Amino acid sequence: MYQICLLPGDGIGLEVVPAARAVLEATGLKFNFVEARAGWACFEDTGKSVPDETLAAIKASDACLAGAFTSPKKKVAGFFSSIRYLRRELDLFANLRPAKSRPVAGSLPGIDMLMVRENTEGLYVAQERRYGDLALADVVITRQASERISKVAAEQAQKRRHKLAIIHKANVLPVTSGFFLEIAQEVTALYPDIHSYDLIVDAAAMLLVRDPGQFDVMVTTNLFGDILSDLMAGLVGGLGLAPSANIGETHAIFESVHGSAPDIAGKGIANPVATILSAALMLEHLGEPEVAAAIDQAVNTALSQDTLTPDLGGKATTEEFSNAIIRALG
Ligand code: NAI
Ligand code: MG
Repeated sequence: MYQICLLPGDGIGLEVVPAARAVLEATGLKFNFVEARAGWACFEDTGKSVPDETLAAIKASDACLAGAFTSPKKKVAGFFSSIRYLRRELDLFANLRPAKSRPVAGSLPGIDMLMVRENTEGLYVAQERRYGDLALADVVITRQASERISKVAAEQAQKRRHKLAIIHKANVLPVTSGFFLEIAQEVTALYPDIHSYDLIVDAAAMLLVRDPGQFDVMVTTNLFGDILSDLMAGLVGGLGLAPSANIGETHAIFESVHGSAPDIAGKGIANPVATILSAALMLEHLGEPEVAAAIDQAVNTALSQDTLTPDLGGKATTEEFSNAIIRALG
């Protein structure tokens, strides 16, 4: 029996999390689901984007499956981004974002890669200041965070095709990005069975588009990892198919790469696959790799049929699509 905290959040999170729950229930494993609140609607109702009960519910569970959380583009007094708060509060330092070819028209063939994104610092410490016509932001790079993310990436490369690209901008930012590069090189030198090499982030973006098949594992700082992982999602069928894992020493939250999609929220047409594949990553993390692989396979089977949501060119609803995945799961 696994205790899973469900955190639907906002927008299409409220539609795709129940779809993923139905798939989990169809696996035959036993779950105790606990629902909790976070996000913008929660902030509007309670004055807190992540209430203390929510944090406690996540801590008390074996893992957490999250939907999406809306953040306003302007600063709102008292509001903080739920997912960034949870990543920092629970020290979920490793953001794993796999991208592999899927049997849909919008996916290129021959891709199987993994972004390992540092999840707690970089530019996302969000220390910003404005002085009239001047705005400043801090970038934080620590030895500890850079070492542990490099270690995660090297271990992932060992489990995969033994290739690791360290992505940085050390030519322009030698003190910060260069420090990250230096530490990543120190750590990966301890893994002689993997081929590690470095790429400047802009060149990496170009190579990802021109020849994505050459990539296995990538490791980088927070902002670069955020941007490149959306690019990677775009190569294999779009945000509707892109899962992710936020992993720390003691807790883990699994969530789609996409956001709350206000443009389609409430219509029942969101693609549930990103969250369903995030649930599969969660099962892998919980020590159920066979069930995780069965879900992945069922997603591919359903993607090869014509019950697809509109983002994939179909006419199906979220529920029809997730039911097709459940049927494929058998
Ligand atoms: P978004 O990912 O929500 O949407 C981008 C585009 O992709 C939209 O056209 C949307 O309809 C489409 N899309 C995304 N997921 C889809 C799915 N499952 N099925 C079908 N189409 C899908 O990004 P956007 O519009 O930049 O942000 C919307 C809100 O989400 C903002 O408040 C933002 O702060 C938040 N956000 C939250 C994230 C999180 O919770 N981790 C990540 C990214 C954005
Ligand atoms: Mg993002």
